[in-house]
Amino acid sequence: MKENANRALGQRRKLAILGSTGSIGRHTLDIVSRFPERFEVVALAAGENVSLLLEQAQRFRPRLISCKNEALAQRIKAQLPPGVSLRTGKEGALAVATHPEAELVVSAMVGAVGLLPTYEAIQAGKHIALANKETLVMAGPLVMKRAREKGVQILPVDSEHSAIFQALKAGRKEEVARLILTASGGPFRTRPKETFAQVTPQEALKHPNWQMGAKITIDSATLMNKGLEVIEARFLFDLPEERIEVKIHPQSIVHSLVEFIDGSVVAQLGLPDMRIPIAYALAYPERLPLGLPRLDLVQASPLTFEEPDEEKFPCLKLAYEALRRGGTAPAVLNAANEEAVAAFLRGHLRFDQIPELISRVLESVESGPLNSLEDVLEADVFARIQAQRILEELEA
Ligand SMILES: NC(=O)c1ccc[n+]([C@@H]2O[C@H](COP(=O)([O-])OP(=O)(O)OC[C@H]3O[C@@H](n4cnc5c(N)ncnc54)[C@H](OP(=O)(O)O)[C@@H]3O)[C@@H](O)[C@H]2O)c1
Repeated sequence: MKENANRALGQRRKLAILGSTGSIGRHTLDIVSRFPERFEVVALAAGENVSLLLEQAQRFRPRLISCKNEALAQRIKAQLPPGVSLRTGKEGALAVATHPEAELVVSAMVGAVGLLPTYEAIQAGKHIALANKETLVMAGPLVMKRAREKGVQILPVDSEHSAIFQALKAGRKEEVARLILTASGGPFRTRPKETFAQVTPQEALKHPNWQMGAKITIDSATLMNKGLEVIEARFLFDLPEERIEVKIHPQSIVHSLVEFIDGSVVAQLGLPDMRIPIAYALAYPERLPLGLPRLDLVQASPLTFEEPDEEKFPCLKLAYEALRRGGTAPAVLNAANEEAVAAFLRGHLRFDQIPELISRVLESVESGPLNSLEDVLEADVFARIQAQRILEELEA
């Protein structure tokens, strides 16, 4: 970004945050409060947690906030500080994403709801700090094309993609041989597959290394999160899926690696703390003195790596399969996965049935070409209807 000159004049980078009450949103505001001279919050969008949204509005004094619906808005309307306006629903989230003063939009809603506001932010010429990987999974080619046309940067927040983004600086694009995404393996890496039918949501919500929202935590337990990240990397870095690999690395210290054509492998390492990749995206191309605990290599040792077990965790294979099919197949995969995770969390689907449901939706929904956002949204709706139908069958 070319606004270093502005900051020299004392201007702060103006942020809009989509999903400010979530795990990434809260970590982002933690960075803002550590560097008030660097960042200013102009707009915040949340879902249902209006008490936290109100606290954030009181503390950071944005011009605009938004929550999921009018009933929720009524609960906080009277307590808003002066100068903060409040809007609701999809229209409210879009207003936050395209706020005229925002320079960088942190896209951190969870799931498919993040796509439209992120796309509209790009249309409005905002740079994007992208946590909402579903945006690229559903509509990667369209989103990246629009970003190029608009001259906006998509800065990765996902720790693996941030690692690759940083490692890629060691060579030219033509010199990249492959990308290696690391995965912790989740809480069930060593648990026998035969017991997966008994996995409870409480067990699946306990990630060994990261504190995250519920949906991504379940995705980590099924390894679908890594599948979604492979798709995200495919479009973000414009490399074919055959050159994107996954290795299990239970310590989550090596966040990902790039292998170059001369055999050199460049990695980014650090303690697992999302504030590091978030701060890198917020301040890019600069680095901030975060003052967090530092990596002690000896204490972190041994660092180990293994192949993912695709038989035990079929979701990873399903994501590669969706990529190979192309078109709207990744959007279908994403929608089926969101429905499966929600059903599992409600206690309506067993853990071992999550990949089964997704696979059946992928088989029954024909993927079409991806020419417009309408194609994506249609595929999303159709896949969810199919998922509900199969869910009813599985429950019967
Ligand atoms: N957490 C991580 O460490 C991490 C790491 C890498 C990537 N990511 C990605 O970042 C995204 C966010 O993850 P997270 O862990 O921060 O999730 P999270 O803790 O569940 O937070 C999700 C946020 O989205 C908001 N939201 C949900 N539905 C909404 C709707 N219909 N309208 C408006 N806002 C809505 C939530 O609002 P309320 O809470 O107010 O309802 C919350 O602010 C996901 O795509 C995830 O894959 C997360």
